[in-house]
Amino acid sequence: PPIYIITPTYARPNQKVDLTTRLSHALQLARGIHWIVVEDSDHKTTLVANLLSRTSLPYTHLHIPTPDHMKRQPHEEFGAKPRGVLQRNEGLRWLREELLSRNNRDGFLYFADDDNGYDLELFDEIRTIKNAGVWPVAFAGGVMVEKPLLKNGKVVGWDVAFEPKREFAVDMAGFAVSVKLLMDRPEARFDFDQPPGHQETYFLKSLGLKKRNMEPKAKNCTQVLVWHTKTKEPILILEKILNQIGKQTDKGMEV
Ligand code: UGA
Ligand code: MN
Repeated sequence: PPIYIITPTYARPNQKVDLTTRLSHALQLARGIHWIVVEDSDHKTTLVANLLSRTSLPYTHLHIPTPDHMKRQPHEEFGAKPRGVLQRNEGLRWLREELLSRNNRDGFLYFADDDNGYDLELFDEIRTIKNAGVWPVAFAGGVMVEKPLLKNGKVVGWDVAFEPKREFAVDMAGFAVSVKLLMDRPEARFDFDQPPGHQETYFLKSLGLKKRNMEPKAKNCTQVLVWHTKTKEPILILEKILNQIGKQTDKGMEV
């Protein structure tokens, strides 16, 4: 059964290298993936269309723009506005429609942001999920590893520094669910009014889950298979100066 992977993405200098060499290459090696890429844009860009057409993956290319008033501005604090919300919901809309039309409920759903690092073994773990799985995420929440706290094989809490009392103190990269569960709960989605760090709880609760329902993966949550990374923004000071005098080093090139 396929793993449907929803990836929100937006234009920036690092977009192509992140999506191509980090994410698409990992997903192609993982096999059995259907990649749903949702651009935060008012149109589908040729940059993303081109990199998708170069993969061997079955994929779906979607777009939906985040309105300006819903975007975090440079002066706004880190926790001000969640990112990728409309894009993940658009991916969910497409997936439900597709599965309904095919009368199919096989497979798994995972949200893979376009900047993280994914071990191939993560996808093998996802394929063992019955309803919903959970595992550690490195570098999330301001610590080396955020992980579920287990007791007798059940999730009873969270070994995290940021708001451990949340029902699901887990990053977007730290869980996956069965497609059947997604179809049983047609209302389940993300909500822009939930601050960053609460999107995961909102979504998993809307699937009718409690933390004790989560199946611990990655050797009882002792293994790190995903890293919450961010590629350093390239320094383009001189490019900006060149642009002011009418020069552009990437003119006619896709970077
Ligand atoms: C953390 C979490 O890991 C994310 O799952 C969560 O969405 C995010 O916080 C949040 O603030 O809501 P972080 O690395 O800070 O992640 O956020 P990004 O990786 O920059 O953004 C998350 C996803 O949304 C990425 O796939 C990114 O490409 C996408 N995004 C970001 C957009 O689609 N539009 C934007 O304007 C910004
Ligand atoms: Mn990220």
